[in-house]
Amino acid sequence: MIGILGGSGLYEIDGLEIIEERRLQTPFGEPSDAYIVADYKGKRAVFLPRHGKGHKYPPHLINYRANIWGFRKLGVKKILSVSAVGGINPLLRAGDFVLSDQFLDFTKVRPVTFYEGVYTIHDDEDTNEDLVKEYITGDRVVHIDVTQPFCPVMRNTLRNILEEEGIRYHFKGTYATTEGPRLETAAEIKALSRLGADIVGMTLVPEIVLARELSMHFASINVITNLAAGISEDRLTSDEVIQMMKEKNEEIKKVIIKFIDN
Ligand code: HPA
Repeated sequence: MIGILGGSGLYEIDGLEIIEERRLQTPFGEPSDAYIVADYKGKRAVFLPRHGKGHKYPPHLINYRANIWGFRKLGVKKILSVSAVGGINPLLRAGDFVLSDQFLDFTKVRPVTFYEGVYTIHDDEDTNEDLVKEYITGDRVVHIDVTQPFCPVMRNTLRNILEEEGIRYHFKGTYATTEGPRLETAAEIKALSRLGADIVGMTLVPEIVLARELSMHFASINVITNLAAGISEDRLTSDEVIQMMKEKNEEIKKVIIKFIDN
């Protein structure tokens, strides 16, 4: 089953039938919102808006562990993330899609791992008992390999879909994750550029790391909503980010539905 992690309302797609809404508890607390389980031509997908209803959680306060744990508990094996990013690489234009293949981590205050010792399970209706025991009693030091953090198979599928749809996209890109919620200074973006970052956003880490810790495949469609600080001459506003995501909404949904149908 596929998990879609993105904005709210992404499941409002013609032909996609909502099966149920699942509110879950996890050993890490509550996920950002209810999971929407949906069916498309016999194929299942689960949607979760990472910022919750009405965009109530800023990036540094999202309960990433609960969100990713919930997906795994529902039987998700692959997570497709949709996110808004700023463009750093001068080849990128606002509105482009980027299938990132690497990340840089500049987050500061978020829990970044499931491996923190022994947890108590407060969860009776768990459907994945074995999995829960395996990870929850993981009172050992674990260093997962993230040499190639993104799933190459998912990225290839997405590339084919973007080609078919005639959407302007880039097959590679290094995503720098900043802590937020403030945007970056021009100097920070210059530094990130020198370090090899192509795009900048605030949510990829720890989502991808946590998904990998639970052996889930992960790919990300990053939509360039703005040119990053100092790349653009203008001041950045949240409005331009929201506006661009709105403009790209139909294209994003087309890619999602084709990905589910694949
Ligand atoms: N910086 C960080 N996160 C973002 C940006 C940005 O410029 N645009 C959208 N998310």
